[in-house]
Amino acid sequence: MGTFAHHGKVIAVTGGARGIGEAIVRRLCSEGAHVFATYNASSSRADAIAAEIRAAGGTVTFLQVDVSNEDSVKGFIEAVVAQGGRLDGLVNNAGITKDGLIMRMSAKDWHDVIDTNLSGVFYACKAAARPMMSQRSGRIVNIGSIVGLQGNAGQANYSSAKAGLVGLTKSLARELASRNVSVNCVAPGFVETDMTDKLTDDQKASFFGNIPLKRGAQTDEIASVVSFFLAQESSYVTGQVLNVDGGLAM
Ligand SMILES: NC(=O)c1ccc[n+]([C@@H]2O[C@H](COP(=O)([O-])OP(=O)(O)OC[C@H]3O[C@@H](n4cnc5c(N)ncnc54)[C@H](O)[C@@H]3O)[C@@H](O)[C@H]2O)c1
Repeated sequence: MGTFAHHGKVIAVTGGARGIGEAIVRRLCSEGAHVFATYNASSSRADAIAAEIRAAGGTVTFLQVDVSNEDSVKGFIEAVVAQGGRLDGLVNNAGITKDGLIMRMSAKDWHDVIDTNLSGVFYACKAAARPMMSQRSGRIVNIGSIVGLQGNAGQANYSSAKAGLVGLTKSLARELASRNVSVNCVAPGFVETDMTDKLTDDQKASFFGNIPLKRGAQTDEIASVVSFFLAQESSYVTGQVLNVDGGLAM
């Protein structure tokens, strides 16, 4: 598998202790970055991942962060800059779902998803903008979803947050371009994670039937695209949404 070079780069990743975020953290570490990743509740899984990465020669630091809390996110980015000395990349990966049809969706479930999946990204981008602008370089990658482009019954809160990320990505791309900071969005379709593992084989088969590639993504197939947006090879790309969905949305 090809890799991108991130030697000496300091990259912050939210939600790095499982799923897609874990794959992003492992890949960026194997490509030479010093990754500062977040965990949310318990540190046990983060500790185990960190031990494996260090044993393989990588450099990772896990910090506890609640992305829905502005002070927590601000403190995280400040800690990254203080400990890492700079901030080359920010990957906004942390996210939640609280699905339900609109008639039954509580205001709390609406706000929880917007607070985590959209406001959390705003807090992190705001905190990262200053060090990146003064460095005159930086890369921000937001993890969206094709649901933000297509909608999904039962996910009014989630799809609204992910659609909001598209606007945030494009506005910040325009605001930060003159300081050589790019902002892009990776929009996965169906990814094989703990979350989607709960579906039955029949449910999966019906999803996969609509996907031109006839399968879900492995987490590293998302991580490799994130790595591209953080790499020198994508230096002339900003404000883009790239669907990584086996051809589902086109
Ligand atoms: N799995 C899929 O099929 C799929 C498809 C499209 C988009 N996505 C997006 O990819 C991202 C990662 O999803 P995943 O499938 O790996 O899910 P996951 O549930 O395995 O991981 C989500 C991560 O976010 C973290 N997190 C949640 N709330 C947080 C908070 N308040 N503060 C800090 N961290 C918090 C969790 O600790 C966890 O590490 C999400 O943004 C999700 O919306 C996933």
